[in-house]
Amino acid sequence: MKRITLPCGASVPALGQGAWHLGEDPARRDEEIATIRRGIDLGMALIDTAEMYGDGKSELLVGEAIEGRRDEVFIVTKVYPHNASRRAMRTACDGSLQRLRIDVIDLYLLHWPGAVALDETVAAFEALQKDGKIRQWGVSNFDTRLMRSLLTVPGGKAVQTDQVLYNLANRGVEWDLLPLLRQHRIPAMAYSPLEQGKLLKTRALTVFAKKHEMTPAQVAIAWLLAHEDVIAIPKTGNRKRLEENAGALARRLTPPHLGELDDLFPPPAGPTPLAMI
Ligand SMILES: NC(=O)c1ccc[n+]([C@@H]2O[C@H](COP(=O)([O-])OP(=O)(O)OC[C@H]3O[C@@H](n4cnc5c(N)ncnc54)[C@H](OP(=O)(O)O)[C@@H]3O)[C@@H](O)[C@H]2O)c1
Repeated sequence: MKRITLPCGASVPALGQGAWHLGEDPARRDEEIATIRRGIDLGMALIDTAEMYGDGKSELLVGEAIEGRRDEVFIVTKVYPHNASRRAMRTACDGSLQRLRIDVIDLYLLHWPGAVALDETVAAFEALQKDGKIRQWGVSNFDTRLMRSLLTVPGGKAVQTDQVLYNLANRGVEWDLLPLLRQHRIPAMAYSPLEQGKLLKTRALTVFAKKHEMTPAQVAIAWLLAHEDVIAIPKTGNRKRLEENAGALARRLTPPHLGELDDLFPPPAGPTPLAMI
């Protein structure tokens, strides 16, 4: 498994597993748990969830799936912006720990920017670190301007990642956000790497994939993995698809492949507002 080093020095898998919508359909539960466990077997041991997902159902399912395997996984979960104050974050974190059935969250992210001042949110993260409830913290859906502000807040430089929408069809972050993160050696975490499945149906991607004997999902993931500091977290609740997605690790895209993809999915030509889902 290709690995990425966070600013704190922890090394995490470059290919993880998203968990949005997992745990919402009781009929799919067994397959979803088996999928997460298979992903851990294959080294996709970074699992991304949030208190928001299914109103806690995703965290509950992840908790069940990682039972007995805590030492093998790196758990990322997220706090709602309205819980990003000192007092509310403590309660929210306890809820996530309980649902995940773990003692400490490896990486706790602010899900998106909200009304609570950044210095208070950073102080709330630091308090949880001090209490041993979270190991590291980061943010999600922060654009370049907000990321710059965060880096000037006391303690703000301890941010470990910015989890953002990034895939072949949404490359706006390449203009100034990724360069800023790179300058501070902060890896980006690319969410919706398959654009929630929509990307896989585009003609440009299906034709490219066929030509190069890959599947569309493998191309989309391998393209993200071609960056040296990007973590990708595709979601699937299906073992076959998970194995297909893991196959992207074996397919390194060459500079000519990347050039061809630039023609099909052009990089940004100027500043672009941060896209979000
Ligand atoms: N921070 C944020 O604001 C934010 C926002 C969105 C997402 N996220 C995180 O990022 C993760 C990934 O993003 P996402 O769930 O939005 O979308 P995604 O990973 O881009 O796509 C997931 C969709 O693609 C399907 N899929 C997966 N592998 C496939 C394959 N090989 N062939 C065909 N279809 C495939 C899945 O269906 P099946 O499950 O049926 O296979 C699902 O419908 C989330 O789960 C979540 O953890 C974070």
